[in-house]
Amino acid sequence: MQLCRDKTVLLGVSGGIAAYRSCELARLLVKDGARVQVVMTEAAAELVGPLTFQALTGRPVEVGRGGKLAASGMTHIDLGRDSQLIIIAPATGNTLAKLAHGLADNLLTSSVLASTCPVLLAPAMNTRMWKNELTRRNMKILSSLKRFQVVGPASGQLACGEEGTGRMSEPAELFQASRCLLGPGSLSGRRLLVTAGPTHEPIDPVRVIANRSSGKMGYALARAARRRGARVCLISGPTSLTAPWDVELVAVETAAQMARQVSRRLAGSDVLIMTAAVADYAPSRPARKKLKKAGKNLTIELQPTTDILAAAGKRKHRPLLVGFAAETGSPLGEARRKLADKNLDMIVANDVGQAGSGFGSDDNQVHILGRGQDRVDSLPLLPKQEVAEQILDRVERLLPGRRTSSRKRG
Ligand code: PMT
Repeated sequence: MQLCRDKTVLLGVSGGIAAYRSCELARLLVKDGARVQVVMTEAAAELVGPLTFQALTGRPVEVGRGGKLAASGMTHIDLGRDSQLIIIAPATGNTLAKLAHGLADNLLTSSVLASTCPVLLAPAMNTRMWKNELTRRNMKILSSLKRFQVVGPASGQLACGEEGTGRMSEPAELFQASRCLLGPGSLSGRRLLVTAGPTHEPIDPVRVIANRSSGKMGYALARAARRRGARVCLISGPTSLTAPWDVELVAVETAAQMARQVSRRLAGSDVLIMTAAVADYAPSRPARKKLKKAGKNLTIELQPTTDILAAAGKRKHRPLLVGFAAETGSPLGEARRKLADKNLDMIVANDVGQAGSGFGSDDNQVHILGRGQDRVDSLPLLPKQEVAEQILDRVERLLPGRRTSSRKRG
């Protein structure tokens, strides 16, 4: 569905090296049917030629204080008023500071001041500038205002050669966020609870029992669900990942904490997707002080943790339940057993012994099984983001007719 069709989008480009990546964003918006008006700051126009954006959008580009549209009787007031969405990508520290304080010294900032539509900000700058107390304060002001939505910045290699947070989010992610702001998605009005990552079970204050889950699969599901318009709560064990845009992140460490957070939110959710690799056992009595090396064998007593999914499956009122089965070797038999034993609607089985799939990798090869169905959908090895989309396509098919929160199950 072209959610951007016939929508007017003002794409503001300020002067960061990431300006060239906004060309791809402009292309995606135009392809999805949007009327895209590009407004560049003077610094941005020194980095990327306005003609590039003009060729991509089919419209003359305004630079600095503008003037081209004024000649046809259009002012910054009209530009702000007529836009259904303003995207500023990249949003430099300078432009963010101006917006936070209501400055309007160029066409871009004055159009924002003259508008009431949502504004999607994609900050991009050097890590130290991003972490600077002044930028923090400016972001606090902007984030407190409902119409400003911030996507990113991401972490990674920056144009200045340093590593850290400050990289503009991927154009595809900004495009998806724009679609969410412009129109209702296929999961709009639904609440999804997704768990991700490993749990850490303390042995003593410095040691834990953990597993190799990176959280990538769960975060991909949370991102995909939010892009489809759902309200998403992501309950995550320890990972190094950044929460996807506009997803509520609840950070936990242990299986017991995850169980508490899931239980608290279950009644208000339409779907629970348990992607987390929850520890099955935890030390019965974690030591209060660091265990000393004694040079002999050490026995640690483990006790079973609560099975979060099985507990949810036993509830009378429960959301749609999707589990994962991580097996080494053929996963179908165990997946079928878990689907029935835990009273699930769907289970996603992965052979985590397969190289390049499962724990930690960017790709996954899964089999999807539904309640009461003999059929197994075996997907090829795909990027986890694509696997997430495939899972959600099936979740959506099970959802029609059901509105938010609990449903009866005898
Ligand atoms: O995080 P990544 O690196 O991207 O890797 C993704 C993944 C391999 C972790 C993911 O695809 C996956 O398979 N997750 C489930 C891992 C797991 O714990 O599987 P299981 O077969 O042990 O458990 C079955 C189901 O019960 C799971 O949905 C699990 O979340 C749930 N469970 C397990 C134990 C427990 N105490 N409570 C639970 O709810």
